[in-house]
Amino acid sequence: MAVKAVIMAAGQGTRMKSDLPKVLHQVAGRSMVGWVIAAAREVGATRIMVVVGHGADAVAADLPDDVDSCLQAEQLGTGHAVQIAIEALGDVSSDTVLVLSGDTPLLEGSSLKSLLAAFDHDHPAAALLAANIDDPTGYGRVLRDGAGQVIGIVEHKDATDVQLAVTEINAGIYAFDGKQLTLALNDLTNDNAQGEYYLTDVVASFAGQGLPMAGIRTDFDQVAGVNSQAHLADANQVMRRRIALGLMETGVWIQDPDQVFISAETSIEPGAHIFAGVHFVGRCAVGADAQIGPDVFADDSRFGQASMVSYSVVRNSVVGEQVSVGPYASLRSGVVLEAGSRAGTFVELKNTRLGERATVAHLSYMGDATVGADSNIGAGAITCNYDGVEKHATEIGARVLIGSDTMLVAPVSVGDDAMTGAGSTITRNVAAGSLAVERSAQREIAGYADRIGKRRREKEER
Ligand code: UD1
Ligand code: CA
Repeated sequence: MAVKAVIMAAGQGTRMKSDLPKVLHQVAGRSMVGWVIAAAREVGATRIMVVVGHGADAVAADLPDDVDSCLQAEQLGTGHAVQIAIEALGDVSSDTVLVLSGDTPLLEGSSLKSLLAAFDHDHPAAALLAANIDDPTGYGRVLRDGAGQVIGIVEHKDATDVQLAVTEINAGIYAFDGKQLTLALNDLTNDNAQGEYYLTDVVASFAGQGLPMAGIRTDFDQVAGVNSQAHLADANQVMRRRIALGLMETGVWIQDPDQVFISAETSIEPGAHIFAGVHFVGRCAVGADAQIGPDVFADDSRFGQASMVSYSVVRNSVVGEQVSVGPYASLRSGVVLEAGSRAGTFVELKNTRLGERATVAHLSYMGDATVGADSNIGAGAITCNYDGVEKHATEIGARVLIGSDTMLVAPVSVGDDAMTGAGSTITRNVAAGSLAVERSAQREIAGYADRIGKRRREKEER
């Protein structure tokens, strides 16, 4: 039987107190619904149908091309949501229908595998995930008979005192026989405390027909729903650890897995060292033997083998092999640092390429610049790349020595092996091999200190 997945994601998520649809909130850099889709893919779902409602356009736009969506314009309950999904899927009578929620980002493929294994093994009409928790408030409770068979689910708001004492909760994650599910959905009513069509009533209906069901207990972490900002932070914490521990298992050294923030789309090669306070946002890649951190914020950037970066911000940039960055550097975007180059302390680079072994060591700004191999940019040298209207390029050749505090007024170029004198404001191109100096001759006023001292004493006597 093919597995088709329905992901319910039409609810508003009022408790998030956010304009963003609930399932688009991110956990480790991936939307919650994105995580659920990944879990469904892991168990080989041949089709994935997401039920959208609140923020439908935004949610649908976030979905990968091979994931479908259907609109539940009015949220009449989970049973109604699945009904709409099945209408969109067409005939599912020979399929296994996996029903998931878009707000359980911590669910892993392994849990769904256990669920489907129980389903395949005993061929029940339904298998559901359950968990035992200390405080089941708000959840539906799993009801079992004396033999431990699942016989129903009762919602918190509909439960009797005896039922409220049950600590086994319904995770809201199910595998259904498509044919039986389709039949049972047709019979749902909204005769309950919330006036909703409950998907959970399908379970009681199956029990009433004597259809077998399996209730699989799993870790609560796997199925915890995110309903508030506090839950979102909790989920991020769990995911953060999961990602860090997964990388450590492959041989990445992580100083403190609770103090690194590594997005789901980041890859790190074994042998890399990640110190505390590192954030990898978006899609980052780190090579072997790299040392990143402490305190690095990196967004969509690559770090080559044996590169070293500390106390710095790196966005949309490529840090090559054996490159050193920081402490306190800002690579704002579009920066390429070729092998062995260096961007040192209080250096800001934007849309700039440093050639192999080129160095910009201290207190510099380079924007829209290219620097050739083995060139050295002196302390405090900057490009003046913006004339108030347009940005202009600076081209510096190979083996160039830019003197400290040089102002390179773009557009301007400095040829191979050329030099500029410290403090020069360079407004014209410098030919290869030349020294360009632009500064006034030094004047010296002998005995000036004595003149000042005399004036000071006169003032004190007044
Ligand atoms: C549901 C279960 C409950 C279970 C809990 C686990 C029912 C009746 N109850 O309760 O047994 O313990 O999940 O978290 O199913 N949704 C739609 N359309 C709707 C209603 C809901 O798409 O019309 C979506 C929501 O966006 C959410 C999911 O379905 O992603 C669950 O809905 P929610 O309202 O949170 O159900 P609960 O009351 O929590
Ligand atoms: Ca819920």
